[in-house]
Amino acid sequence: MEELTISGTDRAQLYRQLIPQIKGLVEGETSLIANLANVAAALKQTFGFFWVGFYIVQGDELVLGPFQGEIACTRISLGKGVCGTCWSEKKSVLVPNVEEFPGHIACSAKSKSEVVVPIIKSGNVVGVLDVDSSELNDFSEADVEGLEQIVALINQQF
Ligand code: SME
Repeated sequence: MEELTISGTDRAQLYRQLIPQIKGLVEGETSLIANLANVAAALKQTFGFFWVGFYIVQGDELVLGPFQGEIACTRISLGKGVCGTCWSEKKSVLVPNVEEFPGHIACSAKSKSEVVVPIIKSGNVVGVLDVDSSELNDFSEADVEGLEQIVALINQQF
């Protein structure tokens, strides 16, 4: 089935609907892996993004965690790529065109734009949520806000 991506105000509305559903999904479950897997699936199902997944801090690297989409790079160093930049800067990074982001790590040539949100617990980045789109310029502040709210529902479980 062809996947559609939904943009603009529709997305903000969808995040408003999705956030309480995710809250319900994760609050009764103590397994971090189960919750990350369901959050990735919920985002993929709702928005049809090309790739949605988590990288988890292990020592001095980000290691691939639960995701939905194609096979991806397994380890990313601090400061490398969009994910490593998000980790080192401790803030969300929105990339309208990945080809214009110096050091972008291309796990797939199909990824055209990307947004990465840090997962922060007690002031430390413990992981990131990475969302890739096959469309250029597919993300806006509505995505950053929605994804940051979703991450806030799971950060204490790390
Ligand atoms: N593009 C990311 C790597 C992860 S994949 O997109 C799944 C980056 O530059 O950090």
